[in-house]
Amino acid sequence: MSELQRSLSKDESSAQAPPRLPSGIALPLLYQGEFLQLFQEASQFPGIVRLDGAFFRLFQVNDATLIQEILRDKQKRYRKGKLMRQLIDVTGDGLLINDGELWRRHRRLASPAFSPRKLDGYAECMMRAAHLLVDRWRDTSEPVDLLHDMSEITLVSLLETIFGIGFDETYAGVSEVIHQMLEQVVLRGRSFFPMPLWVPTPSNLRFRKKIAEAHRTLDQIMATRRASAQDDEPVDLLGQWLQQSDEQEDGEQHFSPQEMRDELMTMLIAGHHSLAIALSWSLYEVARRPEVQARLQAEVDAFETLPQGFKAFEQMTYTRGVFLEALRFYPQPPILLRDCMEDHRLGEFSIKQGDQLLVNVLAVHHDPTCWPEPEAFLPERYEDIALEKMLQHHYLSFGGGSRSCIGRRFAVLEGCMLLAMIVRHMELTLCDPEPVPPKFAAMMVPETPLRLRLSPR
Ligand code: HEM
Repeated sequence: MSELQRSLSKDESSAQAPPRLPSGIALPLLYQGEFLQLFQEASQFPGIVRLDGAFFRLFQVNDATLIQEILRDKQKRYRKGKLMRQLIDVTGDGLLINDGELWRRHRRLASPAFSPRKLDGYAECMMRAAHLLVDRWRDTSEPVDLLHDMSEITLVSLLETIFGIGFDETYAGVSEVIHQMLEQVVLRGRSFFPMPLWVPTPSNLRFRKKIAEAHRTLDQIMATRRASAQDDEPVDLLGQWLQQSDEQEDGEQHFSPQEMRDELMTMLIAGHHSLAIALSWSLYEVARRPEVQARLQAEVDAFETLPQGFKAFEQMTYTRGVFLEALRFYPQPPILLRDCMEDHRLGEFSIKQGDQLLVNVLAVHHDPTCWPEPEAFLPERYEDIALEKMLQHHYLSFGGGSRSCIGRRFAVLEGCMLLAMIVRHMELTLCDPEPVPPKFAAMMVPETPLRLRLSPR
């Protein structure tokens, strides 16, 4: 053994096993599904803490520097968590859960549809959805349930940006099927350990039926879109992918029809719920804080016409900050999942092949060593932080490293444009003064409905 190998193996052997959260605390919370409480209990431990169930080694990582190692510096030693691979029945081997060469190919093929120039095209569809929402809200005197309305409007916008389906007669049928399927995904996501889908329980049967309907609908949309004349430069993501696959010569194979359907489904699953909840919390925080609402209105009112597309990012910095800050408070999801592929040392701890890691985004976002005054809502924090450099500032709402969210610019753009449009036309007031706490249901959802009263400005 060389000197170097000897010193490396000594270094490895000096690594410690992570401390363990007493099983009297961990197991009841794990099996009762009290996940936010479990993560909070485990956040008391600096670094890494072992949570463990009977049949697996499960660790929570609370330390911001170790998290950068997992997501960026040592990312090749990890793959997406097994728990996430449960999505395979819905998304196939799509980008959210695939790994290795398959992931690299899919990411390369999918990425051009998220370039700044393409985002400018989506912005128009986002604006149409925003107008639709404001028009509806102008006509209502009743309090609105934010998550309900945001789920509807983000689906309107996603169906147009992803599939090119405008808000017309086709929309109603498609959105019904997709919405029902997404609802089932959310219901199932509430459990960390759902019953495998092959077990014919009533809820599994319902879920399988909704997935099959959604798959059929997507196949039809793809067939219709392929048969119809293509624009020179399609705006929607499906149109772009179909055009790319037609133009492919002997270079890299484009998505097969099945891969394309899986990736379309992936975009819906990854984009819809996260966006709807993030927007709901953003509007709720604005309504709770008159000073934030006033500053937001001042920024938006200063424009004769609201900036669209990439300009919205650059010019509406406070609006963008409100959306990002709401996502820091309530990250969607609050934890990321990774499985370790080889024994190695992480900080001072030893991690083994097969270990499952929960990357604790929520703890880092509230850590005073990463974020001064972490409990203060300060949208101005982000003025000098580029979206591409968020990980180095310990902002993890869009993950980090090469597996960071492919839709992050899309999401922030939609967040900015909807917020801007809403505060320009409506004054937001809380219905209930009592704060609404978040609960864990794969994402951080409100425990009770977020209700606002709206008056036209
Ligand atoms: C507020 C909205 C959003 C949030 C908070 C969010 C958050 C995230 C996070 C944290 C990841 C990394 C997951 C991990 O490392 O395990 C991710 C990945 C991903 N997101 Fe998003 N996302 C949002 C919107 C979107 C949208 C609108 C789309 C697409 C239209 C999208 C598509 C994806 C995809 C495909 C991945 C997997 C990327 C890969 O591994 O290559 N997301 N997202």
